[in-house]
This record gives sequence, structure tokens and C-alpha cells, in this order.
Amino acid sequence: MRGVPAQIYRTLLFWLTGPALIALLSVPGVPVRSGDAGFSKAMDNVTVRQGESAILRCAVDNRVTRVAWLNRSTILYTSNDKWSIDPRVVLIANTKTQYSIKIQNVDIFDEGPYTCSIQTDNHPKTSRVHLIVQVPPRIWNISSDVTVNEGSTVILRCLASGRPEPAVTWKHYYEKSHGFVGDDEYLEIAGITREQSGLYECSAANEVSMPDVRRVRVTVNYPPYISDARNTGATVGQKGILRCSALAVPLAEFQWYKDDTRLSNGLGGVRIENKDHMSILTFFNVSEKDYGNYTCVASNKLGNSNASVILFGPGAVHNTSSSTSAALAIICLWCSILYSLSKF
Ligand SMILES: *[C@@H]1O[C@H](CO)[C@@H](O)[C@H](O)[C@H]1NC(C)=O
Ligand SMILES: *[C@@H]1O[C@H](CO)[C@@H](O)[C@H](O)[C@H]1NC(C)=O
Ligand SMILES: *[C@@H]1O[C@H](CO)[C@@H](O)[C@H](O)[C@H]1NC(C)=O
Ligand SMILES: *[C@@H]1O[C@H](CO)[C@@H](O)[C@H](O)[C@H]1NC(C)=O
Ligand SMILES: *[C@@H]1O[C@H](CO)[C@@H](O)[C@H](O)[C@H]1NC(C)=O
Ligand SMILES: *[C@@H]1O[C@H](CO)[C@@H](O)[C@H](O)[C@H]1NC(C)=O
Ligand SMILES: *[C@@H]1O[C@H](CO)[C@@H](O)[C@H](O)[C@H]1NC(C)=O
Repeated sequence: MRGVPAQIYRTLLFWLTGPALIALLSVPGVPVRSGDAGFSKAMDNVTVRQGESAILRCAVDNRVTRVAWLNRSTILYTSNDKWSIDPRVVLIANTKTQYSIKIQNVDIFDEGPYTCSIQTDNHPKTSRVHLIVQVPPRIWNISSDVTVNEGSTVILRCLASGRPEPAVTWKHYYEKSHGFVGDDEYLEIAGITREQSGLYECSAANEVSMPDVRRVRVTVNYPPYISDARNTGATVGQKGILRCSALAVPLAEFQWYKDDTRLSNGLGGVRIENKDHMSILTFFNVSEKDYGNYTCVASNKLGNSNASVILFGPGAVHNTSSSTSAALAIICLWCSILYSLSKF
């Protein structure tokens, strides 16, 4: 048989010596003829996870003369003879009652029908099992963290594999709450708002194992919005403090003006400290000339915003909740200046 591959030779041999079997195998869809109670029913599923071993069992009895296991139409084993060249396929039992093989390290391409073919008194029968290969869910491509400007459209991607096909869900975490936002591999957020910033969690789940979970951080830039700037009173010769807070992403940079003059840290007896979203203007030793109208300007690359705050002295009629009565405060500031001058 030189020159003829052994597999072909053996296949021919098998075909020639097993005419009943060949007839059966070459006609697809031949119904299972089962007269033997010990011989299995229609089609069973054998479910294994990728990487594990599958055992395919076939019940036989002592009247059986020929046995074989096939993968679709390819013979894997006949009796003790291995036909498959795949080292993962091994015979584990060839006894009077069972004829079983094992497929090690199962992969998804092994999924499909396997046939146990037996012959009893020249009477062929087959039993089929369907090998189902499961794969745990795995997210293999997810969007990186993104930073966008408010109002733009964001599409987040979460591509997952697994068998059965995993279900993908998106959750949004914002401040202390979270909620479901989508169940597609792609999550589109049109006209994004600052409240839609935060963490987006993608979860891919199937029944095989724990879901695979990954997170994407979405940062939404927006221009500064001054959230707090109050008129503040101070006494001559003491410390005076003006504060200005702004919400902004990225964090705002602050500048302080008195009328048109920009104040500088360390000059004119003032210190300017910026901490996260707040700027603090400190007068070390308040004098009369420090009283007046200050403007806090908060800016980032998306824009700026400003607010006016009054540093007022004792005797000023003030309303700390807004700067609308600031004019009154200024007038009374002058009252107090005039009053203090009149004392000399
Ligand atoms: C085998 O699995 C298929 C699909 O996974 C299912 O429809 C069928 O009912 C299963 N058969 C048995 C006998 O469990
Ligand atoms: C079964 O057949 C498929 C398709 O030909 C093949 O990819 C797979 O490796 C085979 N598996 C075994 C265990 O023979
Ligand atoms: C993920 O998918 C995107 C878009 O389809 C592609 O540009 C990117 O290269 C992919 N990344 C990986 C790691 O496959
Ligand atoms: C505050 O300034 C006044 C006038 O310039 C000065 O007399 C006083 O000593 C200063 N006080 C402090 C604590 O520096
Ligand atoms: C403060 O804002 C107004 C408009 O909101 C603008 O006209 C003005 O120039 C700003 N002032 C400063 C000092 O930036
Ligand atoms: C302070 O100003 C606010 C708003 O401008 C006003 O509603 C409130 O009555 C004022 N309070 C006083 C004590 O004037
Ligand atoms: C303070 O200055 C700002 C801008 O320079 C101005 O819009 C505002 O009316 C002033 N406030 C008072 C009370 O004068």
C-alpha cells in the first residue's frame, strides 16, 4: 500500500468490510432504527466548556459485531483502531456494554453531531450526540476612557464573545446613583450633559459563568459656572477673606480684579489661593482702601464666567445673599469713610 495514505486505505477497508454501514452513512438523514432498549434514543446533547474534555458514550451489548465513532462523516475510531489523527481523541472504553471516546481540550470547532455506529447481526444502528461547546463571556474590545465637550455625541463600544452569545448591558454610575442605560454592544449618548459624565459599566453575561464586567470613564467638559461668591465684611487692621467657587470641567482657573486692575498673589497685602473649585482672596491687614467691588473671573478652555463681590466695612448695610444691594453697601462704605475722616 505504498504511496496510498494509510487513512484512505483503512477507510476503503472499512467501507468494503462494512457495506451496511457505508449504505447508512452515505444517505444523510436516515432515521435511527432502534430495536434495542439499551441503545440510546434520538439525539442527546453533550455540553462542555471550551478547554474541558467531552466524553461520548455509546451503549452496546454482546451481539454487537462492529462499532465506530464518527465526527460528522469522518471516522474517529472503529473498535480499538484509531482513525483520527487528532491526539485529543482517545478511546476510553470498548467493553461488552459500552464503547466510549473522549475528546480532550475541546474547542468550538469540535461542536456538532457525533455518531456512534454499531452493527448487530448485520443490522446497523446509529446513535447521535450533539456536542455543544460553551465559552464563558469575555469582553474583548471596550472603548477607552473618553473626554468630550458638553453637547457632543459619544458612542461607547463593548464587544463581547462567548457561547451562547453573551447579553451586553450598560449601567451608568453618577455620583451616588446608578441605572441601566442600554443593552446593545454600542451605547450612543447624543448631546451629552454634565450629569451624564461618570463611569459606564459594561457587563457581558451568558449562563456559562460569571459575567465579564469592564468600565469606561466618560469626562464631560463644560465652562465655569460660579456657584458661590458672597459679599463679605471685614474690619480695618484685621484679616479679610473673599471666596469664589466655580463648577467647571476641567477645573477653572481664577483671577481677581478690583475695578480694572488684576490682583496678584503676594502683592498689595493680598494672597490668592486656589483649591479645586474655589479661590480665596485674603487681605492680611484690611485698610480702608481695600473696601470695594472685586470681580472674580473663573475660566477654563471652554469659556469663562465672573461674579462681583463686595468687601465692606463695619456700618455698611449689607445683604450677603446677593450683590444687588452692593451699590447701597458702597454708599454706606463712603458713609463710614466720611465718618472716620470726620473723627480727625
Ligand atoms: C439540545 O440542544 C438544543 C439547542 O441547544 C436544544 O434545542 C435541544 O432541545 C437539546 N436536546 C436535548 C435532547 O436536550
Ligand atoms: C470534528 O470535525 C470538525 C469539522 O471537520 C473539525 O474541525 C474538528 O476538529 C473535529 N473534531 C474532532 C474531535 O474530531
Ligand atoms: C476595537 O474596535 C475598534 C473599532 O472597531 C478598533 O478600531 C480597535 O482597533 C479595536 N481594538 C482592539 C484591541 O481590537
Ligand atoms: C496693619 O496696617 C496698619 C497701617 O498700615 C499698621 O499700623 C498695622 O500695624 C498693621 N497691622 C498688622 C497686624 O500688620
Ligand atoms: C464678566 O462677564 C461679562 C458678561 O458675562 C463680560 O461682559 C465682562 O467682560 C466680564 N468681566 C470680566 C472682568 O471678565
Ligand atoms: C437680600 O437680597 C435678596 C435678593 O436680592 C432679597 O430677597 C432679600 O430680601 C434681601 N435681604 C435683605 C435683608 O435685604
Ligand atoms: C462691581 O463691578 C462690576 C463689574 O466691574 C459691575 O458690573 C457691578 O455692577 C459692580 N457692583 C457694584 C455694586 O458696583
